Amino acid sequence: MNFIPYGKQLLDQDDVNAVVQTLKSDYLTTGPKVKAFEDVLSKYCNVKYTVVVSNGTAALHLASLVLLSRNDKVLTTPNSFLATSNAILYVGAKPIFVDIAKDGNLDLDLCEEALIKDPSIKAIYAVAFSGHMVNQQKLKYLKKKYGVKILEDCAHAIGAKDGDVKAASCVNSDISILSFHPVKHMTTGEGGAITTNSKEMYEQLISLRAHGMVKTDAMKPWEYEMHSLGYNYRITDMQCALGISQLDKLDQFIQRRIALVKRYDQAFKNSIIKPLYYDDGTSSYHLYVVQVDFTKLSINKEELFNCLREKSIGVQLHYIPINKQPYYKSLGYGNEFTPIMDRYYEECFSLPMFPKLSDMEQDYIIKTLFEVLR
Ligand SMILES: Cc1ncc(COP(=O)(O)O)c(C=O)c1O
Repeated sequence: MNFIPYGKQLLDQDDVNAVVQTLKSDYLTTGPKVKAFEDVLSKYCNVKYTVVVSNGTAALHLASLVLLSRNDKVLTTPNSFLATSNAILYVGAKPIFVDIAKDGNLDLDLCEEALIKDPSIKAIYAVAFSGHMVNQQKLKYLKKKYGVKILEDCAHAIGAKDGDVKAASCVNSDISILSFHPVKHMTTGEGGAITTNSKEMYEQLISLRAHGMVKTDAMKPWEYEMHSLGYNYRITDMQCALGISQLDKLDQFIQRRIALVKRYDQAFKNSIIKPLYYDDGTSSYHLYVVQVDFTKLSINKEELFNCLREKSIGVQLHYIPINKQPYYKSLGYGNEFTPIMDRYYEECFSLPMFPKLSDMEQDYIIKTLFEVLR
């Protein structure tokens, strides 16, 4: 069996043709494909404005420049990739780690308790972990009642929905971000996007993506003005051409993910392997996370990982609690009261989940996992 990673892109000849066509065109960057990609993303996510950038981390950085000020306190989750809370630090603000709920997402009830205790908290950075949307009713309520700014990190969640609310539509948040890294639902190699319904934020983001420059029709042809300290977080036209082509197939990719989820869910029913949550038609399943109580088994997690990887199964762990990372510990973090996250971290691992995964490969994963756990 060839090595099966936990996530992988799916590219076809149309994708290759789209990139080659752009390579042969006049614009390799800052050309027509950038706006065209933004337009199709806005339509897909049901949002007014999209700004595409070089990666999801750049998207988080720019979103944080627009949303936060120095020393702002921001409630966030320990269960994410480093980039989510790093972006808060980039702008001199202060992450406050709150425990997760049973579905792996930030516990919004605990966020409310924190907001009651400390009304100076300015924002919530919530991650739609593994593709499962953050509870939209609760987000709406917190935003209205406490006036907090809300960022939804939808790097895992394009295509997900909670009722009528689509991921990254910003119906109940100020800003959302997406990532197009190859392990995600669709790819541009590296790439990311910021979505918002605010024209003001959109204009700021466009400028911040390119050095803080502003150019208006009233200016002389050679003129530009720098209004803020921006960056070069541009994405190329080749990447955007790939993104447009990939987005065309996104719903098919997600359907295949859901079919794989149903097969995993069925196989693990009434067993010691517990899916983080069962498919309820809302998650777009970037990850398929399961939990096992290792205290009841003769094998520990490290042994399980080693065994499965020896058998060519690229099991992964999402995530090591960010607040327990050495750098965060050096800033004084690491001792937060997060019992659900701690237990989750002991028990969780992610199984391969990507549209190209065949039924045969999935059967091999399920069979091998049961054998190893036995
Ligand atoms: C939840 C989350 N947010 C942000 C990012 C950053 O995205 P990128 O890798 O495109 O910089 C990732 C990347 O894995 C992620 O998982």
